[in-house]
Amino acid sequence: MGSRKYQSVSAMDAETRKLVVRDIFTNFHITYDLANRVLSLRRDLAWRRSALKRMEFGTQGRFLDVATGTADLAIMAAEAFPGIRVDGIDFAEPMLKIGRVKIERRGLGARIALAQADALDLPFPDASFDVAAIAFGIRNIPDMESALREMSRVTIPGGQVMVLEMSAAVAPPLRVPYLFYLNKILPAIGSLIAGDDSAYLYLAESIVKHPGPEAFAAIMRASGLVGIETLRLTWGAAHLHIGRVPDGSRGES
Ligand SMILES: C[S@@+](CC[C@H](N)C(=O)[O-])C[C@H]1O[C@@H](n2cnc3c(N)ncnc32)[C@H](O)[C@@H]1O
Repeated sequence: MGSRKYQSVSAMDAETRKLVVRDIFTNFHITYDLANRVLSLRRDLAWRRSALKRMEFGTQGRFLDVATGTADLAIMAAEAFPGIRVDGIDFAEPMLKIGRVKIERRGLGARIALAQADALDLPFPDASFDVAAIAFGIRNIPDMESALREMSRVTIPGGQVMVLEMSAAVAPPLRVPYLFYLNKILPAIGSLIAGDDSAYLYLAESIVKHPGPEAFAAIMRASGLVGIETLRLTWGAAHLHIGRVPDGSRGES
C-alpha cells in the first residue's frame, strides 16, 4: 500500500496519461475481470445490461465496442442480439488476448472481431455501425470530445453513440462513504487482488476527476451528438449517456 507509481491525473499531460493508461491495462489484464466484479460489487454487469436494453439495430446490423478491454460488452451484445456482427477495439493487446479466449469459449468467434487500435483513430469507414459504445473507457481518454467525434464518424446518421462511465456524483448520504470506498478501500482490495495498488489509486482518482453528468452531457453536445439522454445508475455510481448522430433527413441539429 501507499506506493505511488503513477503521477496524479491532474499532473499528467495528455501523452503521459495515454502511456500510463496503456501501461496499467497491459500489466493488470490478468486480474482485471475479477477486480472489476469485486470492486463494483457486480454492478458492472447490470450497468452493461442497461446499455444493451437501449440499443437499436437497423440497416447495418453492426455494433462497435470502443476500449473493449476483455470484450465483456462485445460478448453481451452478441448474445443479446443474435443477428448482429460486433467489432471491438482496444490499444492494450493483453486485454484483447483474454477477450479472444472468452469469445472462442462461447463459440462467438464468427460474429465478434477484436483489433488493436486507438479510440482516436478507429480503423473503420464512415457510417459503418448502427451503435458505437464505450464502457468505462472514456474517462481514461484525455481528449473525450475527439473520441466522441470519432465514434460518431463511424456510426450511421440517426445511429446511437453510448457512453457508460463510473462517476463520483453519488447522491448524499452515500457520497461520503462512496468516496471513502473509492479512495481507500478500492486501492486496498485492488492491491490484494492484483498485488499492487498503484493502478487502483489511478483508477479511483480518474473516477473522482471525471466530469459530472451534466458537464459530460455538454461534452457530448459539443462533439455534435443530438438528443442526449443521461440515465443515473446505482445512485449515481455510474451514468449511461446516449446521443444520436444527426440525421439530416430528420431535420435534427
Ligand atoms: C476500464 S477498461 C474497460 C474495458 C471494457 N470496456 C469493460 O467494460 O470492461 C478501459 C479500457 O480502455 C482502454 N483504452 C483506454 N484508452 C484507450 C484508447 N485511447 N484507445 C483504445 N483503448 C483505450 C484500456 O486499454 C482498457 O482496456
